[in-house]
Amino acid sequence: MNVTVFDTPEQVGKACALLFASQVMRKKNSVLGLATGSSPIGCYQQLIAWHREGWLDFSDCISYNLDEYVGLPIEHETSYHAFMQAELFSGINMKATYLPDGNAANMNAECRRYDRAIEKAGGIDIQLLGIGRNGHIGFNEPGEKFIYGTHVVNLTESTIDANKRFFESADQVPRQAVSLGIGGIMNAREVVLVAMGVDKAKAIADTVKGPITPMVQASILRTHPNAHILIDKAAASRL
Ligand code: GLP
Repeated sequence: MNVTVFDTPEQVGKACALLFASQVMRKKNSVLGLATGSSPIGCYQQLIAWHREGWLDFSDCISYNLDEYVGLPIEHETSYHAFMQAELFSGINMKATYLPDGNAANMNAECRRYDRAIEKAGGIDIQLLGIGRNGHIGFNEPGEKFIYGTHVVNLTESTIDANKRFFESADQVPRQAVSLGIGGIMNAREVVLVAMGVDKAKAIADTVKGPITPMVQASILRTHPNAHILIDKAAASRL
């Protein structure tokens, strides 16, 4: 795992976009693993800008997102479907984009279907990740084990608290989500985790310097053969 510290959050976003753009340049039909949250926005804005300049083409690429809330209609403005449409998909020309269905009648079957679809597509070439304040990646919350496959998660109070800013109040934050598992993330051929701000400093220090433990789910990335951590100075302040 290599860790790169940048002066500003803008530089983190650009460096992340550079890794995604070079993947797409190397392989036109790349399978991109995408993420939501505020951390990827700078990267997405840069990818949109390069696409508008006319040289970055996603028309053979497909994407799979990490996660989605359970029971939130996809038209809801805070669903991850809506977020991805607004922040990235409306500005580029992806061939197809997929997220897990948080409204499926049988969520276990949906989880298995999502994992199989990624496998059939040849696996994820490059996976973008943010990190939760408690070290979660996707919605893999701290716990006793690393869960391999896509699964339904009960969100922790810390995550509900962090994500309430996108809703009118904390009671409107869904209590469950569906998330790619740690196996799904680790199977990506390249992983890029981005984090900015002092709120992420502890999670980053635990990830980079603490024990590899499911209590800090991102710490498993230290065993990935091709993982990058891109952070600004504030997120690096406890390293
Ligand atoms: C959510 C998402 C994660 C994301 C995290 C951090 O919980 N499920 O994928 O990494 O929030 O979000 P932010 O980048 O807004 O701090």
